[in-house]
Order: sequence, then C-alpha cells, then structure tokens
Amino acid sequence: MTYRPRICPYHTLMQHVPQGARVLDVGCGAGLWLFLLARFRQIAEGVGIEVDARKVATANALRRPDEKLRFLSVDPGDQWPQQEFDSLTMIDVLHHVTPDHQKPLLQRIAETSVRRILFKDIDPAMRLRRTMNTLHDLVVTHQRPWYRPVETVCRWIEEAGFVIREQSWAPMFWYGHYFVVADRAA
Ligand SMILES: C[S@@+](CC[C@H](N)C(=O)[O-])C[C@H]1O[C@@H](n2cnc3c(N)ncnc32)[C@H](O)[C@@H]1O
Repeated sequence: MTYRPRICPYHTLMQHVPQGARVLDVGCGAGLWLFLLARFRQIAEGVGIEVDARKVATANALRRPDEKLRFLSVDPGDQWPQQEFDSLTMIDVLHHVTPDHQKPLLQRIAETSVRRILFKDIDPAMRLRRTMNTLHDLVVTHQRPWYRPVETVCRWIEEAGFVIREQSWAPMFWYGHYFVVADRAA
C-alpha cells in the first residue's frame, strides 16, 4: 500500500470523483483508494466491498474512527450494499476476475443507483507494459491476469445504461493504465 500510489494513477483518478460523493468501491483490497479519498477530504462517505476477508480485516484495522468508511467482506455472488451511492469505482479488479465472470460483474452496475462510474484497468494493447504487469501479478498475487480492452469495457458500461464521458491512458513506470469515466444516461 505504501508504494502502490507510485505505480497506480490514483492522483489522476481522484479528479473524477465528485466532491462530497458517497462512493461504493468494488474490489477495495485493503482500502487504500477510499483512505486516500477520505484523507484528502474528497468524499463524504465510502463503502468498500472485497472478496478477500483478510484484506477487509486490514482495512477495518486501519480505519480511523472519524472516517465515514466501511469495509465489507462479500462473496462474488452476494448482493452489493443497497444504500444510496453517487459513484462506483472499480480499480484493477476486472483483470483478477475470470473471463466468464467479467461481463456479469460489470452488468451489476445497472442494479445500483450510482450516477458515475470510474473504472480503471491495465491496457492489454500496450504489450510490453502488459507483460510487466503480468509478471507483477504472478509474483505478487500468484494469479494470471485476464485483461480486457478498453473498447469492450466501454461497451459493457454503455449496455448497463451509462454514457462514456472520458476514456484516457495514464502510464506509470512500466504499467500501462487506462481509465473510463461514465455517467448514467439521462
Ligand atoms: C489488484 S486488487 C486492487 C485493490 C484496490 N482496488 C486498489 O486499487 O488497491 C484487486 C482486488 O479485487 C478483488 N476482487 C476480485 N474479484 C472481486 C469481486 N467479484 N468482488 C469484489 N472484489 C473482488 C480481489 O480480491 C483484490 O483484492
């Protein structure tokens, strides 16, 4: 968590989270993204959901009492929290999900009432950078990644009822990141 902000463009992503938002962060890991948003006073409230119960325990242990953050352990098929959120974020989650489960995971955003989606992943089109991330994942998580091109992700987000507002790239060191900002269709 100490070094992740040096390789993941959180500073760029933060600019796309509306000030004072209530954020649902899907695949929150140990909570780093929500901690950054809360400590920079960008959000009013955040809920992180995560399938790895040990990471949820770490996030809850790091949470300060004055922060309106909650971290919940979920199974992949569990219902997401039903409270009202303004924004949903999903950072580097999709490539950890097996191909058959990727579209169903993104389709679930249609079940929420969020107005904004902020999605980030590794761009498979940047071949050398993709290889570097694959090595990273094999060493750090012992998992092979399943990348999806930005075009596919944008199509799935649109099918869930959102309009793509921005599609950008933010390489950092040898990691090739892309991100998508989408708003609920009027
Ligand atoms: C690379 S980590 C990213 C964590 C965090 N988003 C960040 O930026 O630091 C990907 C996380 O997604 C979680 N994950 C994978 N599939 C998930 C699912 N269906 N629901 C919730 N979390 C999931 C993994 O357990 C892992 O902690």
